[in-house]
Amino acid sequence: MSNENRSIHEFDFNLICEYFSSIERQGPGSPEVTVQALSFIDHLTSESRVADLGCGTGGQTIVLAQHAPGHITGIDLFPTFIDRLNVNAGKLNLQDRITGVVGSMDNLSFQNEELDLIWSEGAIYNIGFERGLNEWRRFLKPGGYIAVSEAAWFTEERPAEIEEFWQDAYPEIDTISNKVGQMQKAGYIPVATFILPETCWTEQFYVPQEKAQEAFLKKYAGNKTAEEFIEYQRHEARLYDKYKAYYGYVFFIGKKI
Ligand SMILES: C[S@@+](CC[C@H](N)C(=O)[O-])C[C@H]1O[C@@H](n2cnc3c(N)ncnc32)[C@H](O)[C@@H]1O
Repeated sequence: MSNENRSIHEFDFNLICEYFSSIERQGPGSPEVTVQALSFIDHLTSESRVADLGCGTGGQTIVLAQHAPGHITGIDLFPTFIDRLNVNAGKLNLQDRITGVVGSMDNLSFQNEELDLIWSEGAIYNIGFERGLNEWRRFLKPGGYIAVSEAAWFTEERPAEIEEFWQDAYPEIDTISNKVGQMQKAGYIPVATFILPETCWTEQFYVPQEKAQEAFLKKYAGNKTAEEFIEYQRHEARLYDKYKAYYGYVFFIGKKI
């Protein structure tokens, strides 16, 4: 299909997908943080069933498989990301432990009480924190865990510029204590929360994008949509640098009661 036949939205979708396929992570995080979050989860065995929702190209899925027993189903909306996960799992001889599946986190086909652990790094925002916690709960066994990372405010008040940016990008951003309250209300014991180190945004996420952005702009020279998309990414990175005292990513770990 040629580009002229695509709607602007379809083109955007493919553009975003191509851009994020070219970098290892699609959101802030690191292998160390994945392992740290995993350290709060104590009951996994080789029989355990784990789901990694919005797994992207599966950076954290691989880390999970390398540090915990059980079988992991990685689910993402983008087929290119899932292909990448399955290829990488095969290269590491983890194909029996990881299955990447194309699907949507708002239409999961797990059985009730099938899962021992639900993982989701930087992805629950796609259906919303509260909705995700509530809807996914039935798939967990009693005593099963949920571990999600999500943007949160560090302070009660914020400068208008960053407040406006997030109100547009993800209005469900909230303070850590409010999010812990939502987790408790949804029927989980809040087991742990911790703030991801700044390097998860800088070294792990924004720095690798700089090279990818140059290559992307070269490839799509003169393409206004591509240029605007890259400018948005750069704007987001600049805002983080300016306002990182006010917000960040937080891991929330809960246990189903
Ligand atoms: C910010 S990325 C995080 C990816 C990965 N977990 C990481 O930390 O590198 C969000 C991911 O959610 C996926 N996504 C968006 N909407 C989704 C949905 N409805 N169901 C499943 N995945 C979705 C995107 O394709 C993307 O890979």
